Amino acid sequence: MRLLTWLIFLAHWGGARAEPGKFWHITDLHLDPDHKVPKYPFQVCPSAGFQSVPNAGPWGDYLCDSPWALINSSIYKLGEAAVLEIVKCLTKLIREVFLGAFYSEKLPGPSGAGQIVVNELTADMVGPGQQFQWLEDVLTNASKAGDMVYIVGHVPPGFFEKTQNKAWFQEGFNEKYLKVVWKHGRVIAGQFFRHHHTDSFRMLYDDAGAPISAMFITPGVTPWKTTLPGVINGANNPVIRPAYPKPFLQDMVTYFMNLSQANAQGMRRWELEYQLTKAYWVPHASAHSLQAVLDRITGDQGALQHYYLYNSVSYYAGVCEEAARVEVAAYTTCLYLPLLLMALLGLCTLVL
Ligand SMILES: *[C@@H]1O[C@H](CO)[C@@H](O)[C@H](O)[C@H]1NC(C)=O
Ligand SMILES: *[C@@H]1O[C@H](CO)[C@@H](O)[C@H](O)[C@H]1NC(C)=O
Ligand SMILES: *[C@@H]1O[C@H](CO)[C@@H](O)[C@H](O)[C@H]1NC(C)=O
Repeated sequence: MRLLTWLIFLAHWGGARAEPGKFWHITDLHLDPDHKVPKYPFQVCPSAGFQSVPNAGPWGDYLCDSPWALINSSIYKLGEAAVLEIVKCLTKLIREVFLGAFYSEKLPGPSGAGQIVVNELTADMVGPGQQFQWLEDVLTNASKAGDMVYIVGHVPPGFFEKTQNKAWFQEGFNEKYLKVVWKHGRVIAGQFFRHHHTDSFRMLYDDAGAPISAMFITPGVTPWKTTLPGVINGANNPVIRPAYPKPFLQDMVTYFMNLSQANAQGMRRWELEYQLTKAYWVPHASAHSLQAVLDRITGDQGALQHYYLYNSVSYYAGVCEEAARVEVAAYTTCLYLPLLLMALLGLCTLVL
């Protein structure tokens, strides 16, 4: 129960009360049902393990998974119409997640855009349960029907940017996934993953070096500081994020709760952190625009610094240090680049 993780990926298409053409990506809620605000710092939350949690507040702590109040607040922020939708989706999702299922759903609307949820493609799995074949079939079908597809998954392929050489997929699965994307890139309108709790994106290129598809890694609601060895400042502020997908990905907006401020003021507030198109001066959030974002963050120290701040959802405001840079294929970033994967796959360049 402690690390309960949910993905809520909602589509509102032209509903009377819902904003049309928008969906929310809310991930990694991680309810810690025993989270409290007690007198003693060792009694705050089981998810902190043996760490002391001083000055715990009602909305949660960077050392803990989410208290119910934070999860409730993130859902409430979406508004009443969405909450009704969420209840329906959760019922379905809980059944499916616990059965380990993967499925696709057709989004309502005039020009059909398929939505696919690929759940739990993980590194530890003995076999990915025919998911790749299924994905291949769905994409082939979409291609025949003239549909565009959003791929939504939990554990992302590639590397975790806050530590070196930490990949979640088994090597073979990484390669399989990327091959599918290469083959069907034309019908993939976007990829959404999570699990890292950090904010970043990856770009996939074809063998001529043209961007095929961008993969967004969405931060979580849980602020929990990862205990992975080697990770420094591995916490984040809680995030909820709407995306504007039609007819291609128009924009991506990130709302966050400044947890330390919310606790200090005793008041929860979700505020705009950044809007992709405005933060990086690009017309939309398509692969083409994301390539422009990439050019910007690799060529302009100011943009890179923004990207670095957003990576932890404005939790860590440190300066992107020269020493932390790794230069690969003319790109410079503050975070580790997935060298190993590039070497394994040859054609693919994944950049943070
Ligand atoms: C969730 O939060 C809302 C708004 O603060 C509150 O009215 C409601 O009672 C809470 N619901 C639960 C189930 O905690
Ligand atoms: C692909 O389309 C075929 C023919 O309509 C259908 O039988 C099959 O179930 C579809 N596959 C998936 C994964 O949607
Ligand atoms: C979050 O709140 C803290 C404490 O009030 C403040 O120091 C910090 O600047 C805030 N961060 C952002 C990104 O607003």
